[in-house]
Amino acid sequence: MKKLIAANWKMNFTMAEAREFVSHILQDAKNYPDILDKAEFLICAPSVYLSALSKFSKEGVMTIGGQDCSFHGKGAYTGEISAEMLRDVGCTHVIVGHSERREYHGEQNDLIAGKAQSAYKNGIKAIICVGESLKERDAHLHKEVVKRQLLESVPKEATAENTVISYEPVWAIGTGKTPSPKDAGEMHNFIRALITKHYSGGENMRILYGGSMNSENAKELLSTPNVDGGLIGGASLNVDKFFAVAKCA
Ligand code: 13P
Repeated sequence: MKKLIAANWKMNFTMAEAREFVSHILQDAKNYPDILDKAEFLICAPSVYLSALSKFSKEGVMTIGGQDCSFHGKGAYTGEISAEMLRDVGCTHVIVGHSERREYHGEQNDLIAGKAQSAYKNGIKAIICVGESLKERDAHLHKEVVKRQLLESVPKEATAENTVISYEPVWAIGTGKTPSPKDAGEMHNFIRALITKHYSGGENMRILYGGSMNSENAKELLSTPNVDGGLIGGASLNVDKFFAVAKCA
């Protein structure tokens, strides 16, 4: 399975910077074609840029995704963006249940499952995020927390074709800290066992790692069993640093 090297730009970049970034990635991929045997790129951009960026999208090279979608199909939901709209502008993926949405917008597992179902209905892959806080890890509750988030936010109809899991320990996001390869491996193996048991095709579902991944730690993380790619925040804001992560794959 190719590693998925996914950028989560969060609320960053101007339109010009966003365009420059994606054309740069395509050029880099042309210059290092071997990379595409091992990795593919996904850029999860602010929604206002998606339409313009998806013109650069190339299956197997670089595709474009949203950072969130509505649970609703359509209607009077001011400010929301539906999965149908994301598909309409050329997105292949959408992140749902990111810890920043869980924390700052109070999103709960059932809402996240509804967003994933909305993505499925529209032929978009849901990248469903799970991960424990530092307090939960320190209290040795991390597996219990992740199991609950996973079973409650990943819908029954999830398959390897419509779903990607992203394990993002909250304490590693934007902090420069990462789990040791042993701890990351243990959690990814745990997630693999859970999804294999509960979802059809779970053995082939991608499990990304997210949280302070960069070109210094990516080699180790990406060679950990059951780490099928990365969801990258900070290091995705500089095209050379982001491409360097892909080189580690
Ligand atoms: P950082 O890479 O900045 O830690 O962010 C990770 C993240 O939140 C990816 O969704």
